[in-house]
Amino acid sequence: MDKDTFRSAMRQVAGAVTVVTTRGQDGEARGVTATAVCSLTVEPPSVVACINRDTWVGQIAPESRNFCVNVLAKAQQPVAETFAGRTALTGAERFRVGDWQDCETGAPVLEGAIASFDCELEQAVDFATHVILIGRVRRTLNDNSGAEPLVYVDGGFTTTQSAA
Ligand SMILES: Cc1cc2nc3c(=O)[nH]c(=O)nc-3n(C[C@H](O)[C@H](O)[C@H](O)COP(=O)(O)O)c2cc1C
Repeated sequence: MDKDTFRSAMRQVAGAVTVVTTRGQDGEARGVTATAVCSLTVEPPSVVACINRDTWVGQIAPESRNFCVNVLAKAQQPVAETFAGRTALTGAERFRVGDWQDCETGAPVLEGAIASFDCELEQAVDFATHVILIGRVRRTLNDNSGAEPLVYVDGGFTTTQSAA
């Protein structure tokens, strides 16, 4: 399997856009835009997030042992671009974009997100370039089920369209 063919097939897979945040042991917050995030089990309530170890979150979360998955609304595309490193803002400066509060675990939660999942890290599994964060969900926050979701497909941001 050559990686360009794999990449081009994966480009066609639409993904919900999230920002995965964590608060480090030094008190500093970090976040990363991520689509490789999904539900794992209902019992116990758990999620997985696949994060490159070159990112701040990939380095910090395995030690801070907290993370929050914030599922973005379409109107929050500027937040996604900021935490994907597409602006001049770095590190904790990125939290200047969007309205952020602290979850119980300490990880930042984004006001107005479609849903947020505050997690304690259960397990961090290394695979190649990435770390798979397995989180036990302690609390869900935000409930904006009526908002249009932010979706990434074929290299661009879009949203879902209702059939009606
Ligand atoms: C739509 C989109 C989805 C992304 N999904 C992921 C992902 O699932 N995991 C990941 O590690 N990086 C993902 N990235 C890349 C990171 O957001 C990007 O590398 C970011 O700049 C990392 O920040 P840092 O290196 O400054 O910490 C995605 C980027 C975009 C635009």
